[in-house]
Amino acid sequence: SDILAGSKIFTSNCASCHAGGQNIIMPARKKTLKKEALSQYLSGGMAEGSVIHIVTNGKSAMPAFGGRLSDEDIASVASYVIDQATFDKW
Ligand code: HEM
Repeated sequence: SDILAGSKIFTSNCASCHAGGQNIIMPARKKTLKKEALSQYLSGGMAEGSVIHIVTNGKSAMPAFGGRLSDEDIASVASYVIDQATFDKW
């Protein structure tokens, strides 16, 4: 997986709902992509595999990207999200 490629995939596919690591469509907007939120709300906690899972399968109002993005692209966008969260880059 490739963080730079992941940043471009994020801009094209995720930023409409998660610009700046936010979550603009959840009521209360708690389920952001920041470290604390991923640890608290993401099933499996803050790990690349957990991000791969939600991106592939979707959840509630988040669409599934499995079949729309390749597994490689999903892994890249997950590594980008984890890097952004881990080092407080959002
Ligand atoms: C949740 C990543 C695209 C809407 C999440 C979470 C992650 C994530 C990691 C868990 C956040 C947490 O629990 O704190 C991504 C990535 C995307 C993407 C990498 C692009 C490949 C989108 C899009 C939308 C969206 C386009 C809106 C149409 C949501 C919603 C949740 C969510 C509503 C909360 C789901 C729930 O727990 O019920 N997203 N997302 N996401 N995302 Fe996305």
